Amino acid sequence: MTSEPKASRLLLLALLLVGAAAAAGGHDDAVARRTMEEFAGFPASDGDEGPSTAFRVDSEGLQRQIDELASFSDSPAPSVTRVLYSDKDVRARRYIKGIMNDLGLAVREDAVGNIFGRWEGSEAGLGAVGTGSHVDAIPFSGKYDGVVGVLGALEAISLLKRSGFQPKRSLEVIMFTSEEPTRFGISCLGSRLMAGIEELAQSLRKVVDNQNVSFLDAAESAGYKMDPKDLQSVFLKKNSYSAFIELHIEQGPILEKEGIPIGIVTAIAAPASITVEFEGNGGHAGAVLMPARNDAGLAAAELALAVEKHVLESGSIDTVGTVGILQLHPGAINSIPSKSHLEIDVRDIDEKRRNEVIEKIRRSATEISKNRGVVLSEFKIINQDPPALSDQSVVEAMEFAAKQLNLEYKKMISRAYHDSLFMARVSPMGYSHKPEEYASPEDMANGVKVLALTMAKLSLE
Ligand SMILES: *[C@@H]1O[C@H](CO)[C@@H](O)[C@H](O)[C@H]1NC(C)=O
Repeated sequence: MTSEPKASRLLLLALLLVGAAAAAGGHDDAVARRTMEEFAGFPASDGDEGPSTAFRVDSEGLQRQIDELASFSDSPAPSVTRVLYSDKDVRARRYIKGIMNDLGLAVREDAVGNIFGRWEGSEAGLGAVGTGSHVDAIPFSGKYDGVVGVLGALEAISLLKRSGFQPKRSLEVIMFTSEEPTRFGISCLGSRLMAGIEELAQSLRKVVDNQNVSFLDAAESAGYKMDPKDLQSVFLKKNSYSAFIELHIEQGPILEKEGIPIGIVTAIAAPASITVEFEGNGGHAGAVLMPARNDAGLAAAELALAVEKHVLESGSIDTVGTVGILQLHPGAINSIPSKSHLEIDVRDIDEKRRNEVIEKIRRSATEISKNRGVVLSEFKIINQDPPALSDQSVVEAMEFAAKQLNLEYKKMISRAYHDSLFMARVSPMGYSHKPEEYASPEDMANGVKVLALTMAKLSLE
């Protein structure tokens, strides 16, 4: 997730159970085990020893890993700060690779440090079933965002191995580089590049962070020395993956409010971001009389309200728009703002409808600048990504898994940035969500089980 308010970041976990009502008991374990037996052809082994050990998540181990990973942080616990290619990021990467090695996965890294742990299937030539997320963390965030999608996926693999499952399609856990835009202002950097976005490969050759450290130098300091032309080598070949699933914390309150344990995401809303600047003459707050002013601050205020108006005019609850940044220059109580800067975020699951809202905002900006005699010195669409729809077959596999585990679920839309948005360009994508104020090990175990069953099913297709 990217650039949402930090307060919500610790709250919610993907694919988990709300409350204890449907907590995994012996019955669900037994159903899941039978399913695994059908998939894997291994014999029932636990006889009357009580609940199966064959399909049990190592919750304590997973929680220990999450806590350990959270200790690689540049801010004090309980917050986590882990910025791309920093020393702590490097240590987190080493930690993830260590777990992959321990699981017997074949580990490889691409030029920018996307990390892949592969469990080779019996038909290794087929597209793999991928899952994964990120472990970079914006300053002072929580320990679950992204992390559950990586460590949870590794536990799902471990669970399938312990269950005796034999994959047909290879299973792969991916740790994506820099989902967060903290350092270079680019969200989902690793997955965008994997999706083969040429302009990104070009811009990464030049981009610098706020300390004027180039992307290439920062990567080299983390052990990823590359020639600029190596950036293209990150692009995924077509059909590398037959499906991609992401387990992630949820940032919205929908499931929790409705008390539904599992969210299966059918679409990720298409985000766009815009920066706007107005310039006026400024002047002293006492000296310049009202008729003589061209106040860049008021132009910004008027545009902020126009954003809300245009979003509401779409008539769809799925259209959302936010002015998250509004800065005035020089920012003094006795100065008429001579310059204003807005950053606007607009999202929708319908790309055309969202783009119409952007056009209306553009027209309003022009109109406001004329009416107020200010200069519209910038109207820049920073990014305008297409939405991603989950693949029907992946959604069905997730529904199948949730049903096997006797977990109620709801199909829903995600409105945050995720690596899945870009993986959807190169692979059928599925994505699951679920809010949780407190991510208990039991809750996470259910998410891991749904993920494991889903991957097992897709591996055999
Ligand atoms: C940033 O680094 C480049 C290359 O080292 C240098 O040419 C440029 O002057 C630097 N810019 C700033 C603002 O320090």
